[in-house]
Amino acid sequence: MTTATAQAFSNIAFIKYWGNRDNELRLPVNGSISMNLDGLFSRTTVSFQPSLPFDELIINGREVVGKGLERVSFILDLIREKAGIKMNAEVMSENNFPSGAGIASSAAAFAALALAGSKAAGLDLSERELSVLARRGSGSASRSIPAGFVEWQVGKDEKDCYAYSIAPADHWNLVDCVAIVSSSHKKTGSTEGHAIAGTSPLQNARVADAPRRLEICRNAILKKDFDAFANIIEHDSDMMHAVMMTSNPPLIYWQSATVEIFHQVREWRASGLPVSYTVDAGANVHVLCLGEYAREVEKRLREVPGVKDVLVAGVGGGARIV
Ligand code: PMV
Repeated sequence: MTTATAQAFSNIAFIKYWGNRDNELRLPVNGSISMNLDGLFSRTTVSFQPSLPFDELIINGREVVGKGLERVSFILDLIREKAGIKMNAEVMSENNFPSGAGIASSAAAFAALALAGSKAAGLDLSERELSVLARRGSGSASRSIPAGFVEWQVGKDEKDCYAYSIAPADHWNLVDCVAIVSSSHKKTGSTEGHAIAGTSPLQNARVADAPRRLEICRNAILKKDFDAFANIIEHDSDMMHAVMMTSNPPLIYWQSATVEIFHQVREWRASGLPVSYTVDAGANVHVLCLGEYAREVEKRLREVPGVKDVLVAGVGGGARIV
């Protein structure tokens, strides 16, 4: 086959990945846990063509050159090397959510690219190999390959650094209500952010404590213990942003509406509504709740000043060929 189309969901990290022990290989300093976001996807078609003089990338109907194309060609090179082919490829990708705004568009995009690209090149990679390949494009993309609730292990080496499912999508009816406070492209992307994470004096403490947070979060998910889950994901998100804010140069992703939502969510939880927040490298707030409260949470978020829209996503499956 020389053409294949794959679809992968974005994911939201509950225990965050921030900082690499090897930037080129994207080997993280700590493990992470996430869930895939049903409905928020990238769909990517890769077609290897002997007549193409170079790789071409089209995202949401627009041709992309420069850094964006280089990152995609880098993954195509890894695929070409594995498959022993030399053809260039046309890559067409569509996202159905705002990109560059902390909804991990790169996670969905590189997971879909790894799957579509390897299939189009005639490879039949295992889930683990696909996770490793997707990781080279964007660390969090390793977690968009397996289904449902996913853990990405630090691993001993490059081949051992992959993500796997810890529970299927139907294990727990969690819903992510993403409060969009800004849909503009963030100024500092996560690749640059990872590279300066170690300049924060707080990063060592965050990393040293990661196994404890991973265990609490993993157990909370497995036991469906929302209280334990809520406390640990807020704590972990706050810790990552503390590192970001104290790195050199400092990164502040939050807007005033971001902080306003933190206060609201904690108030709602104190008054009996089971909700919790987490924020990636952007201003938007992912508000997690059980499925039965999603409508109420969405309604309340829409009333918070500064919230422009709310996306609602349940737990998604793994990357697949379409
Ligand atoms: O995969 P990257 O390089 O876009 O990094 C993702 C970083 C966070 O979204 C902030 C955390 C995470 O674990 O997804």
